[in-house]
Amino acid sequence: MPEIDAMDSVNAIKVSIVGGAGYVGLVTGIGLAEVGHQVTCVDICADKIEKLKRGSSPISEPGLEGLLQKNMGAGRLSFTSDLEKGIPPAEIVFIAVGTPAKDDGAADLSQVIQVTEDLVRHLQGYTVIAIKSTVPVGTVELVESILRRHKREGEEFDIVSNPEFLREGYGLYDFFHPDRIVIGARSERARQLMHELYEPIIYRTVKGVYDDAADARDPVPVIDTDLASAQMIKYASNAFLAARISFINEIAALCERVGADIKEVAKGMGYDPRIGRTYLDAGLGFGGPCLEKDLRALIKIAENNHCPVSLLRAVLERNEQQVREVIAKVKQLAGYLLYKKIITVFGLTFKANTSDIRNSLSLRVIEQLDHEGALVRAYDPVALCEVRSLHPELVLSEDPYEALIHADVLVILTDWPQFLELDYARIKQLMASPCIVDARNLLDPAEMRAYGFRYCSIGRAGV
Ligand code: UGA
Repeated sequence: MPEIDAMDSVNAIKVSIVGGAGYVGLVTGIGLAEVGHQVTCVDICADKIEKLKRGSSPISEPGLEGLLQKNMGAGRLSFTSDLEKGIPPAEIVFIAVGTPAKDDGAADLSQVIQVTEDLVRHLQGYTVIAIKSTVPVGTVELVESILRRHKREGEEFDIVSNPEFLREGYGLYDFFHPDRIVIGARSERARQLMHELYEPIIYRTVKGVYDDAADARDPVPVIDTDLASAQMIKYASNAFLAARISFINEIAALCERVGADIKEVAKGMGYDPRIGRTYLDAGLGFGGPCLEKDLRALIKIAENNHCPVSLLRAVLERNEQQVREVIAKVKQLAGYLLYKKIITVFGLTFKANTSDIRNSLSLRVIEQLDHEGALVRAYDPVALCEVRSLHPELVLSEDPYEALIHADVLVILTDWPQFLELDYARIKQLMASPCIVDARNLLDPAEMRAYGFRYCSIGRAGV
Protein backbone atom coordinates (compact mmCIF):
# COMPACT_ATOMS: atom_id res chain seq x y z
CA MET A 1 0.00 0.00 0.00
CA PRO A 2 1.47 3.41 -0.97
CA GLU A 3 2.27 6.08 1.63
CA ILE A 4 -0.93 8.03 2.30
CA ASP A 5 -1.27 11.62 3.40
CA ALA A 6 -4.37 12.75 5.23
CA MET A 7 -6.61 15.25 3.52
CA ASP A 8 -5.68 18.77 4.51
CA SER A 9 -9.11 20.10 3.61
CA VAL A 10 -11.35 17.50 5.27
CA ASN A 11 -13.86 18.71 7.82
CA ALA A 12 -12.60 16.66 10.78
CA ILE A 13 -15.46 14.87 12.53
CA LYS A 14 -15.06 13.53 16.07
CA VAL A 15 -15.64 9.80 15.92
CA SER A 16 -15.63 7.11 18.61
CA ILE A 17 -15.57 3.45 17.76
CA VAL A 18 -16.81 1.03 20.40
CA GLY A 19 -15.24 -2.33 19.65
CA GLY A 20 -12.35 -0.35 18.22
CA ALA A 21 -9.72 -3.01 18.87
CA GLY A 22 -11.64 -5.67 16.91
CA TYR A 23 -11.11 -6.34 13.24
CA VAL A 24 -13.83 -4.14 11.74
CA GLY A 25 -13.56 -1.42 14.42
CA LEU A 26 -9.80 -1.07 14.14
CA VAL A 27 -9.61 -0.99 10.36
CA THR A 28 -12.46 1.54 10.29
CA GLY A 29 -10.85 3.67 13.00
CA ILE A 30 -7.44 3.76 11.37
CA GLY A 31 -8.99 4.39 7.94
CA LEU A 32 -11.12 7.30 9.21
CA ALA A 33 -8.13 8.84 11.01
CA GLU A 34 -6.10 8.58 7.81
CA VAL A 35 -8.87 10.42 5.97
CA GLY A 36 -8.44 13.26 8.48
CA HIS A 37 -11.08 12.63 11.15
CA GLN A 38 -10.44 12.68 14.89
CA VAL A 39 -10.87 9.10 16.08
CA THR A 40 -10.96 7.39 19.47
CA CYS A 41 -11.13 3.60 19.53
CA VAL A 42 -12.71 2.23 22.70
CA ASP A 43 -12.57 -1.43 23.65
CA ILE A 44 -13.03 -3.41 26.84
CA CYS A 45 -10.10 -5.64 25.90
CA ALA A 46 -7.45 -3.78 27.90
CA ASP A 47 -4.59 -5.97 26.59
CA LYS A 48 -5.33 -5.06 23.00
CA ILE A 49 -5.74 -1.38 23.89
CA GLU A 50 -2.36 -1.34 25.69
CA LYS A 51 -0.74 -2.95 22.67
CA LEU A 52 -2.35 -0.41 20.34
CA LYS A 53 -1.21 2.47 22.57
CA ARG A 54 2.34 1.23 21.99
CA GLY A 55 1.71 1.44 18.22
CA SER A 56 1.45 -2.30 17.75
CA SER A 57 -1.54 -3.89 16.01
CA PRO A 58 -3.26 -6.93 17.57
CA ILE A 59 -4.32 -8.10 14.11
CA SER A 60 -2.10 -8.74 11.11
CA GLU A 61 -3.36 -6.81 8.13
CA PRO A 62 -1.21 -5.35 5.33
CA GLY A 63 -0.33 -1.69 5.91
CA LEU A 64 -2.30 -1.40 9.15
CA GLU A 65 0.52 -0.95 11.64
CA GLY A 66 2.19 1.76 9.53
CA LEU A 67 -1.01 3.81 9.37
CA LEU A 68 -1.68 3.16 13.05
CA GLN A 69 1.65 4.70 14.06
CA LYS A 70 1.38 7.53 11.54
CA ASN A 71 -2.07 8.63 12.71
CA MET A 72 -1.26 8.27 16.40
CA GLY A 73 1.79 10.43 15.77
CA ALA A 74 -0.36 13.02 13.97
CA GLY A 75 -2.70 13.16 17.00
CA ARG A 76 -5.74 11.95 15.03
CA LEU A 77 -6.03 8.52 16.60
CA SER A 78 -6.16 7.44 20.24
CA PHE A 79 -7.14 4.34 22.20
CA THR A 80 -8.83 3.79 25.54
CA SER A 81 -10.65 1.08 27.45
CA ASP A 82 -12.64 3.71 29.34
CA LEU A 83 -15.98 4.66 27.72
CA GLU A 84 -16.13 7.84 29.77
CA LYS A 85 -12.91 9.07 28.21
CA GLY A 86 -13.60 7.62 24.78
CA ILE A 87 -17.14 8.79 23.98
CA PRO A 88 -17.63 12.50 24.75
CA PRO A 89 -17.72 14.66 22.71
CA ALA A 90 -18.08 12.34 19.68
CA GLU A 91 -20.38 13.41 16.85
CA ILE A 92 -20.56 9.86 15.55
CA VAL A 93 -20.28 6.74 17.73
CA PHE A 94 -19.80 3.50 15.82
CA ILE A 95 -20.90 0.27 17.44
CA ALA A 96 -18.54 -2.35 16.01
CA VAL A 97 -18.68 -5.09 18.63
CA GLY A 98 -19.04 -8.77 17.80
CA THR A 99 -22.34 -10.53 17.17
CA PRO A 100 -21.28 -14.19 17.53
CA ALA A 101 -23.66 -17.06 16.83
CA LYS A 102 -25.75 -18.47 19.67
CA ASP A 103 -26.28 -22.23 19.87
CA ASP A 104 -29.42 -21.99 17.75
CA GLY A 105 -27.62 -19.92 15.06
CA ALA A 106 -29.24 -16.58 15.99
CA ALA A 107 -26.96 -13.55 16.34
CA ASP A 108 -26.00 -12.99 19.97
CA LEU A 109 -26.74 -9.31 20.59
CA SER A 110 -25.55 -9.21 24.20
CA GLN A 111 -22.46 -7.10 23.42
CA VAL A 112 -24.55 -4.64 21.38
CA ILE A 113 -27.05 -4.33 24.22
CA GLN A 114 -24.32 -3.96 26.84
CA VAL A 115 -22.48 -1.17 25.01
CA THR A 116 -25.76 0.62 24.31
CA GLU A 117 -26.60 0.59 28.03
CA ASP A 118 -23.10 1.86 28.83
CA LEU A 119 -23.21 4.51 26.11
CA VAL A 120 -26.27 6.21 27.52
CA ARG A 121 -24.33 7.78 30.38
CA HIS A 122 -21.68 9.31 28.13
CA LEU A 123 -23.45 10.90 25.16
CA GLN A 124 -23.35 14.70 24.90
CA GLY A 125 -25.43 16.99 22.67
CA TYR A 126 -26.39 15.52 19.27
CA THR A 127 -24.82 12.16 18.43
CA VAL A 128 -25.24 9.76 15.54
CA ILE A 129 -25.02 6.12 16.64
CA ALA A 130 -23.83 4.14 13.63
CA ILE A 131 -24.24 0.38 13.83
CA LYS A 132 -21.44 -1.41 11.99
CA SER A 133 -21.88 -4.78 13.68
CA THR A 134 -23.84 -7.27 11.58
CA VAL A 135 -27.24 -7.30 13.27
CA PRO A 136 -30.69 -8.62 12.36
CA VAL A 137 -33.51 -6.30 11.41
CA GLY A 138 -35.10 -5.02 14.60
CA THR A 139 -31.81 -4.40 16.41
CA VAL A 140 -31.84 -0.70 15.59
CA GLU A 141 -35.26 -0.42 17.23
CA LEU A 142 -33.91 -2.30 20.26
CA VAL A 143 -30.89 0.02 20.55
CA GLU A 144 -33.17 3.00 20.10
CA SER A 145 -35.55 1.86 22.84
CA ILE A 146 -32.66 1.39 25.31
CA LEU A 147 -31.29 4.85 24.51
CA ARG A 148 -34.73 6.52 24.71
CA ARG A 149 -35.46 4.88 28.05
CA HIS A 150 -32.35 6.39 29.63
CA LYS A 151 -32.13 9.62 27.62
CA ARG A 152 -31.01 12.64 29.62
CA GLU A 153 -31.81 16.32 29.29
CA GLY A 154 -30.08 18.00 26.31
CA GLU A 155 -29.11 14.70 24.75
CA GLU A 156 -30.23 14.01 21.19
CA PHE A 157 -29.37 11.11 18.93
CA ASP A 158 -30.19 9.33 15.69
CA ILE A 159 -29.33 5.79 14.74
CA VAL A 160 -28.00 4.69 11.37
CA SER A 161 -27.15 1.28 9.99
CA ASN A 162 -23.80 1.33 8.17
CA PRO A 163 -22.81 -2.28 7.47
CA GLU A 164 -19.27 -3.31 6.63
CA PHE A 165 -18.02 -5.32 3.65
CA LEU A 166 -14.27 -5.59 4.42
CA ARG A 167 -12.47 -8.82 3.60
CA GLU A 168 -9.76 -10.02 5.99
CA GLY A 169 -6.34 -9.63 4.43
CA TYR A 170 -7.59 -6.74 2.29
CA GLY A 171 -9.11 -4.64 5.08
CA LEU A 172 -7.43 -1.31 4.34
CA TYR A 173 -7.68 -1.75 0.59
CA ASP A 174 -11.41 -2.42 0.91
CA PHE A 175 -11.83 0.52 3.28
CA PHE A 176 -10.35 2.98 0.80
CA HIS A 177 -11.84 1.31 -2.31
CA PRO A 178 -15.34 0.19 -1.28
CA ASP A 179 -17.69 -1.10 -3.99
CA ARG A 180 -20.49 0.72 -2.19
CA ILE A 181 -21.28 2.48 1.06
CA VAL A 182 -24.63 1.56 2.61
CA ILE A 183 -26.36 4.08 4.86
CA GLY A 184 -29.70 3.12 6.37
CA ALA A 185 -31.32 5.99 8.23
CA ARG A 186 -34.59 7.65 9.08
CA SER A 187 -33.09 11.03 9.92
CA GLU A 188 -31.81 13.33 7.15
CA ARG A 189 -29.51 15.08 9.63
CA ALA A 190 -27.78 11.79 10.48
CA ARG A 191 -27.56 10.77 6.82
CA GLN A 192 -25.94 14.10 5.99
CA LEU A 193 -23.29 13.66 8.66
CA MET A 194 -22.48 10.14 7.43
CA HIS A 195 -22.06 11.47 3.88
CA GLU A 196 -19.69 14.13 5.22
CA LEU A 197 -17.72 11.48 7.10
CA TYR A 198 -17.19 9.36 4.01
CA GLU A 199 -16.82 12.21 1.50
CA PRO A 200 -13.05 11.73 0.86
CA ILE A 201 -13.69 8.04 0.19
CA ILE A 202 -16.80 8.59 -1.92
CA TYR A 203 -14.97 11.08 -4.15
CA ARG A 204 -11.67 9.14 -3.97
CA THR A 205 -9.68 12.15 -2.78
CA VAL A 206 -7.54 10.57 -0.03
CA LYS A 207 -4.00 11.52 -1.04
CA GLY A 208 -1.68 8.74 -2.15
CA VAL A 209 -4.39 6.12 -2.49
CA TYR A 210 -6.06 6.79 -5.81
CA ASP A 211 -3.03 7.45 -7.95
CA ASP A 212 -3.41 4.79 -10.63
CA ALA A 213 -5.59 4.92 -13.71
CA ALA A 214 -7.87 2.20 -12.37
CA ASP A 215 -8.94 4.60 -9.63
CA ALA A 216 -9.89 7.46 -11.95
CA ARG A 217 -13.47 6.28 -11.67
CA ASP A 218 -16.88 7.59 -10.78
CA PRO A 219 -17.63 8.29 -7.12
CA VAL A 220 -18.31 5.30 -4.89
CA PRO A 221 -22.05 4.50 -5.03
CA VAL A 222 -23.81 5.37 -1.78
CA ILE A 223 -26.91 3.33 -1.09
CA ASP A 224 -29.13 5.68 0.89
CA THR A 225 -31.84 3.45 2.20
CA ASP A 226 -34.07 2.57 5.13
CA LEU A 227 -32.78 0.84 8.26
CA ALA A 228 -34.23 -2.62 7.59
CA SER A 229 -32.94 -2.75 4.02
CA ALA A 230 -29.43 -1.70 5.08
CA GLN A 231 -29.24 -4.58 7.54
CA MET A 232 -30.63 -7.05 4.99
CA ILE A 233 -28.09 -5.88 2.35
CA LYS A 234 -25.30 -7.12 4.63
CA TYR A 235 -26.88 -10.52 5.33
CA ALA A 236 -27.97 -11.05 1.75
CA SER A 237 -24.50 -10.16 0.43
CA ASN A 238 -22.71 -12.66 2.65
CA ALA A 239 -25.36 -15.31 1.96
CA PHE A 240 -24.98 -14.76 -1.78
CA LEU A 241 -21.18 -15.14 -1.61
CA ALA A 242 -21.68 -18.34 0.39
CA ALA A 243 -24.23 -19.56 -2.18
CA ARG A 244 -21.77 -19.04 -5.05
CA ILE A 245 -19.14 -21.08 -3.22
CA SER A 246 -21.56 -23.92 -2.41
CA PHE A 247 -22.85 -23.82 -5.97
CA ILE A 248 -19.40 -24.20 -7.50
CA ASN A 249 -18.49 -26.94 -5.01
CA GLU A 250 -21.59 -28.89 -6.02
CA ILE A 251 -20.78 -28.46 -9.71
CA ALA A 252 -17.20 -29.56 -8.88
CA ALA A 253 -18.50 -32.84 -7.45
CA LEU A 254 -20.47 -33.36 -10.63
CA CYS A 255 -17.40 -32.53 -12.77
CA GLU A 256 -15.51 -35.34 -11.05
CA ARG A 257 -18.26 -37.81 -11.97
CA VAL A 258 -18.42 -36.77 -15.64
CA GLY A 259 -14.72 -36.10 -16.24
CA ALA A 260 -14.90 -32.30 -16.55
CA ASP A 261 -12.46 -29.82 -15.00
CA ILE A 262 -14.04 -27.32 -12.57
CA LYS A 263 -11.36 -24.69 -13.23
CA GLU A 264 -12.24 -24.70 -16.93
CA VAL A 265 -15.95 -24.66 -16.13
CA ALA A 266 -15.63 -21.70 -13.71
CA LYS A 267 -13.49 -19.83 -16.23
CA GLY A 268 -16.01 -20.43 -18.99
CA MET A 269 -18.90 -19.33 -16.78
CA GLY A 270 -17.08 -16.27 -15.46
CA TYR A 271 -16.77 -14.56 -18.84
CA ASP A 272 -20.51 -13.99 -18.77
CA PRO A 273 -20.79 -10.56 -17.11
CA ARG A 274 -24.07 -11.67 -15.53
CA ILE A 275 -22.09 -14.34 -13.66
CA GLY A 276 -18.54 -12.97 -13.20
CA ARG A 277 -15.49 -14.94 -12.11
CA THR A 278 -15.17 -14.16 -8.38
CA TYR A 279 -16.27 -16.55 -5.60
CA LEU A 280 -16.25 -19.45 -8.03
CA ASP A 281 -13.14 -21.19 -6.69
CA ALA A 282 -14.09 -24.72 -5.73
CA GLY A 283 -12.33 -26.02 -2.64
CA LEU A 284 -12.85 -26.85 0.99
CA GLY A 285 -15.82 -24.51 1.34
CA PHE A 286 -16.34 -21.24 3.17
CA GLY A 287 -14.85 -20.85 6.63
CA GLY A 288 -13.95 -17.84 8.75
CA PRO A 289 -15.78 -15.72 11.26
CA CYS A 290 -18.47 -14.29 8.98
CA LEU A 291 -20.03 -16.18 6.06
CA GLU A 292 -21.27 -19.22 7.98
CA LYS A 293 -22.28 -17.24 11.07
CA ASP A 294 -24.25 -14.72 9.03
CA LEU A 295 -25.87 -17.43 6.93
CA ARG A 296 -27.02 -19.26 10.07
CA ALA A 297 -28.30 -15.99 11.53
CA LEU A 298 -30.23 -15.26 8.32
CA ILE A 299 -31.83 -18.71 8.45
CA LYS A 300 -32.83 -18.00 12.04
CA ILE A 301 -34.29 -14.61 11.04
CA ALA A 302 -36.31 -16.43 8.38
CA GLU A 303 -37.50 -19.01 10.89
CA ASN A 304 -38.58 -16.28 13.30
CA ASN A 305 -40.53 -14.68 10.48
CA HIS A 306 -42.11 -17.99 9.33
CA CYS A 307 -40.41 -17.72 5.94
CA PRO A 308 -39.25 -21.00 4.29
CA VAL A 309 -35.61 -20.73 3.08
CA SER A 310 -34.69 -24.14 1.67
CA LEU A 311 -32.07 -22.63 -0.63
CA LEU A 312 -30.18 -21.00 2.26
CA ARG A 313 -30.27 -24.28 4.20
CA ALA A 314 -28.90 -26.14 1.17
CA VAL A 315 -25.99 -23.67 0.93
CA LEU A 316 -25.04 -24.53 4.49
CA GLU A 317 -25.50 -28.27 4.01
CA ARG A 318 -23.31 -28.27 0.91
CA ASN A 319 -20.57 -26.55 2.90
CA GLU A 320 -20.72 -29.23 5.59
CA GLN A 321 -20.64 -31.92 2.90
CA GLN A 322 -17.42 -30.41 1.50
CA VAL A 323 -15.40 -31.36 4.60
CA ARG A 324 -16.73 -34.94 4.30
CA GLU A 325 -15.69 -35.05 0.63
CA VAL A 326 -12.14 -34.07 1.52
CA ILE A 327 -11.98 -36.77 4.20
CA ALA A 328 -13.24 -39.31 1.64
CA LYS A 329 -10.42 -38.30 -0.73
CA VAL A 330 -7.82 -38.73 2.01
CA LYS A 331 -9.24 -42.19 2.72
CA GLN A 332 -9.18 -43.08 -0.94
CA LEU A 333 -5.45 -42.30 -1.15
CA ALA A 334 -4.57 -43.78 2.24
CA GLY A 335 -6.29 -47.11 1.56
CA TYR A 336 -9.54 -46.34 3.42
CA LEU A 337 -8.36 -47.06 6.98
CA LEU A 338 -6.81 -43.96 8.52
CA TYR A 339 -5.87 -45.60 11.81
CA LYS A 340 -2.19 -44.80 12.61
CA LYS A 341 -1.66 -43.28 9.17
CA ILE A 342 0.53 -40.16 9.24
CA ILE A 343 -1.44 -37.37 7.64
CA THR A 344 0.31 -34.02 7.19
CA VAL A 345 -1.92 -31.00 6.87
CA PHE A 346 -0.73 -27.78 5.23
CA GLY A 347 -2.72 -24.62 6.02
CA LEU A 348 -4.61 -23.88 9.21
CA THR A 349 -6.10 -20.43 8.60
CA PHE A 350 -9.59 -20.10 7.09
CA LYS A 351 -8.06 -18.62 3.94
CA ALA A 352 -4.66 -17.39 2.74
CA ASN A 353 -3.20 -13.98 3.71
CA THR A 354 -4.59 -13.96 7.23
CA SER A 355 -3.49 -15.42 10.56
CA ASP A 356 -7.14 -15.92 11.57
CA ILE A 357 -8.10 -19.48 12.49
CA ARG A 358 -11.64 -18.66 13.65
CA ASN A 359 -14.07 -21.19 12.19
CA SER A 360 -11.31 -22.54 9.96
CA LEU A 361 -12.52 -25.61 8.08
CA SER A 362 -8.94 -26.93 8.30
CA LEU A 363 -9.48 -27.47 12.00
CA ARG A 364 -12.70 -29.37 11.28
CA VAL A 365 -10.84 -31.63 8.84
CA ILE A 366 -8.11 -32.24 11.42
CA GLU A 367 -10.69 -33.08 14.08
CA GLN A 368 -12.27 -35.62 11.75
CA LEU A 369 -8.92 -37.17 10.79
CA ASP A 370 -8.05 -37.43 14.45
CA HIS A 371 -11.42 -39.05 15.13
CA GLU A 372 -10.61 -41.71 12.53
CA GLY A 373 -7.38 -42.54 14.37
CA ALA A 374 -4.92 -40.81 12.02
CA LEU A 375 -1.69 -39.30 13.36
CA VAL A 376 -2.04 -35.71 12.23
CA ARG A 377 0.81 -33.23 11.87
CA ALA A 378 0.22 -29.68 10.78
CA TYR A 379 2.15 -26.81 9.25
CA ASP A 380 1.11 -23.23 8.48
CA PRO A 381 3.31 -20.34 7.31
CA VAL A 382 1.81 -17.77 9.75
CA ALA A 383 -0.68 -19.19 12.23
CA LEU A 384 1.37 -21.65 14.32
CA CYS A 385 1.33 -19.38 17.38
CA GLU A 386 -2.45 -18.88 17.25
CA VAL A 387 -3.04 -22.61 16.80
CA ARG A 388 -0.57 -23.57 19.54
CA SER A 389 -2.31 -21.42 22.12
CA LEU A 390 -5.83 -22.56 21.23
CA HIS A 391 -5.13 -26.21 20.34
CA PRO A 392 -2.12 -27.32 22.39
CA GLU A 393 -3.00 -30.95 21.59
CA LEU A 394 -2.10 -30.56 17.89
CA VAL A 395 1.29 -31.72 16.61
CA LEU A 396 2.69 -28.69 14.81
CA SER A 397 5.83 -28.33 12.79
CA GLU A 398 7.81 -25.15 12.10
CA ASP A 399 9.18 -26.63 8.92
CA PRO A 400 7.07 -27.95 6.02
CA TYR A 401 9.61 -30.59 5.01
CA GLU A 402 10.07 -31.89 8.55
CA ALA A 403 6.28 -32.20 8.81
CA LEU A 404 6.32 -34.56 5.83
CA ILE A 405 8.92 -37.11 6.96
CA HIS A 406 7.33 -40.60 6.59
CA ALA A 407 3.89 -39.04 5.94
CA ASP A 408 1.28 -41.16 4.16
CA VAL A 409 -0.77 -38.28 2.74
CA LEU A 410 -0.23 -34.54 2.40
CA VAL A 411 -3.51 -32.57 2.59
CA ILE A 412 -3.46 -28.94 1.41
CA LEU A 413 -6.27 -27.02 3.11
CA THR A 414 -5.41 -23.32 2.64
CA ASP A 415 -4.33 -21.74 -0.65
CA TRP A 416 -1.17 -20.11 0.68
CA PRO A 417 1.01 -19.12 -2.32
CA GLN A 418 4.04 -20.28 -0.27
CA PHE A 419 2.97 -23.89 -0.92
CA LEU A 420 3.60 -23.36 -4.63
CA GLU A 421 7.26 -22.58 -3.95
CA LEU A 422 8.02 -25.87 -2.18
CA ASP A 423 10.38 -28.49 -3.64
CA TYR A 424 7.97 -31.31 -4.54
CA ALA A 425 10.76 -33.64 -5.70
CA ARG A 426 12.18 -33.42 -2.17
CA ILE A 427 8.72 -33.84 -0.66
CA LYS A 428 8.23 -37.06 -2.62
CA GLN A 429 11.48 -38.44 -1.21
CA LEU A 430 10.49 -37.56 2.36
CA MET A 431 7.02 -39.13 2.35
CA ALA A 432 6.30 -42.80 3.08
CA SER A 433 3.87 -42.80 0.17
CA PRO A 434 3.64 -39.93 -2.31
CA CYS A 435 -0.03 -38.91 -2.01
CA ILE A 436 -1.52 -35.41 -2.11
CA VAL A 437 -5.09 -34.24 -1.54
CA ASP A 438 -5.19 -30.66 -2.73
CA ALA A 439 -8.44 -29.31 -1.27
CA ARG A 440 -7.85 -25.83 -2.74
CA ASN A 441 -6.89 -26.77 -6.31
CA LEU A 442 -3.62 -24.94 -5.75
CA LEU A 443 -1.18 -27.22 -7.56
CA ASP A 444 -0.97 -28.30 -11.19
CA PRO A 445 -2.28 -31.92 -11.44
CA ALA A 446 -0.12 -32.81 -14.47
CA GLU A 447 3.01 -31.51 -12.75
CA MET A 448 2.26 -33.43 -9.55
CA ARG A 449 1.65 -36.63 -11.45
CA ALA A 450 4.91 -36.07 -13.37
CA TYR A 451 6.71 -35.97 -10.00
CA GLY A 452 5.14 -39.36 -9.29
CA PHE A 453 2.47 -38.31 -6.78
CA ARG A 454 -0.95 -39.87 -6.51
CA TYR A 455 -2.79 -36.57 -6.57
CA CYS A 456 -6.42 -35.60 -6.21
CA SER A 457 -8.10 -32.24 -5.95
CA ILE A 458 -11.63 -30.80 -6.12
CA GLY A 459 -13.64 -31.14 -9.32
CA ARG A 460 -10.73 -32.27 -11.48
CA ALA A 461 -9.74 -35.68 -12.84
CA GLY A 462 -8.91 -38.08 -9.98
CA VAL A 463 -5.72 -39.87 -8.84
C1 UGA B 1 -16.38 -12.06 4.06
C2 UGA B 1 -16.93 -11.18 2.91
O1 UGA B 1 -16.20 -11.48 1.73
C3 UGA B 1 -16.75 -9.68 3.25
O2 UGA B 1 -17.33 -8.88 2.22
C4 UGA B 1 -17.47 -9.39 4.57
O3 UGA B 1 -17.30 -8.03 4.96
C5 UGA B 1 -16.88 -10.27 5.66
O4 UGA B 1 -17.06 -11.67 5.28
C6 UGA B 1 -17.64 -9.97 6.93
O5 UGA B 1 -18.86 -10.18 6.96
O6 UGA B 1 -17.04 -9.41 7.84
P1 UGA B 1 -13.95 -12.82 4.85
O7 UGA B 1 -14.62 -13.51 5.98
O8 UGA B 1 -12.71 -12.03 5.07
O9 UGA B 1 -15.00 -11.80 4.15
O10 UGA B 1 -13.65 -13.98 3.83
P2 UGA B 1 -13.75 -14.24 2.27
O11 UGA B 1 -12.54 -13.69 1.59
O12 UGA B 1 -15.05 -13.83 1.74
O13 UGA B 1 -13.65 -15.83 2.26
C7 UGA B 1 -14.58 -16.63 3.02
C8 UGA B 1 -14.32 -18.09 2.82
O14 UGA B 1 -14.73 -18.50 1.52
C9 UGA B 1 -12.86 -18.52 2.95
O15 UGA B 1 -12.79 -19.72 3.67
C10 UGA B 1 -12.42 -18.73 1.51
O16 UGA B 1 -11.37 -19.63 1.38
C11 UGA B 1 -13.70 -19.24 0.89
N1 UGA B 1 -13.79 -19.03 -0.58
C12 UGA B 1 -13.83 -17.77 -1.08
C13 UGA B 1 -13.90 -20.13 -1.42
O17 UGA B 1 -13.89 -21.30 -0.98
N2 UGA B 1 -14.02 -19.92 -2.78
C14 UGA B 1 -14.04 -18.68 -3.31
O18 UGA B 1 -14.17 -18.56 -4.56
C15 UGA B 1 -13.95 -17.57 -2.44
